[in-house]
Amino acid sequence: MEEAKTAVVTGAGGGIGSAVASRLAADGFHVYALDLRFADDAWKDDPNKDRIESVPVDLGDPAAIKAAFDELRGKLTSLEALVNCVGIMRRGDALTLTEQDWFDTFRVNVDGVFFTCREALPLLEKAGSSAIANIASNWGLTPSPGHIAYSASKAAVVSLSKSLALDYGRLGIRVNAVCPGEILTPMVEQKLRDNGMTEEDLAAPIPIGRVGRPVDVAGLMSYLVGPESSYMTGGAVEITGGLWS
Ligand SMILES: NC(=O)c1ccc[n+]([C@@H]2O[C@H](COP(=O)([O-])OP(=O)(O)OC[C@H]3O[C@@H](n4cnc5c(N)ncnc54)[C@H](O)[C@@H]3O)[C@@H](O)[C@H]2O)c1
Repeated sequence: MEEAKTAVVTGAGGGIGSAVASRLAADGFHVYALDLRFADDAWKDDPNKDRIESVPVDLGDPAAIKAAFDELRGKLTSLEALVNCVGIMRRGDALTLTEQDWFDTFRVNVDGVFFTCREALPLLEKAGSSAIANIASNWGLTPSPGHIAYSASKAAVVSLSKSLALDYGRLGIRVNAVCPGEILTPMVEQKLRDNGMTEEDLAAPIPIGRVGRPVDVAGLMSYLVGPESSYMTGGAVEITGGLWS
């Protein structure tokens, strides 16, 4: 019998990450879902919930990431896919952002993605053909006013993804960054509450006329870690409904 393909999804307790975990499980992956915390009913109604294993871990702590992968190395001989969805958003410009918010943003959004990729690379290499997809943001390509730490951290995710693509392509590992626009998740619902906005306000400037959904991003992730994207690496793929700044 053919062994199941395996995937690690980070930020898998969140809006986009949980949809990605569901989609990869539907694609036939056994999914290790990494996050600080999970809702009690995460994947309760998912027909493929048996293929999703929750792993609580602080992805802002390189030692905790290493410990989680030490455990995974005990269970796995190889890994076919890694999707990093972990991320936090802290608002502020250069003068209003707190020092703590700057460091926290980079600790989770950049260090968390980098150290997870670093731990996963030897397992991904053993698969012979494998892929990483890292969530950045369209703000990593064009910064948003008043979001200096978040925008800079997402630019770093685009750049580190391109570096990994350069360094590991010949080992059979493809790496792409994904740059979503507005996707309706707890992160964006919080932004709407903070700014007294509705979903319709958010949709108004989007050419396609609606705010994105986590399944939209999950479909792209499925493609990017699947065989049909075998010539794609080093990309920064936008999924914005046409809104590019
Ligand atoms: N929602 C959007 O519109 C949008 C747009 C562009 C990019 N993104 C990016 O997509 C990713 C997912 O965002 P989302 O909207 O689903 O947000 P979300 O807040 O629902 O999910 C983020 C997840 O990351 C987890 N997390 C945060 N810090 C962690 C830590 N230290 N250790 C482990 N887990 C931690 C949270 O627990 C949460 O489950 C993020 O990287 C975000 O920056 C989102």
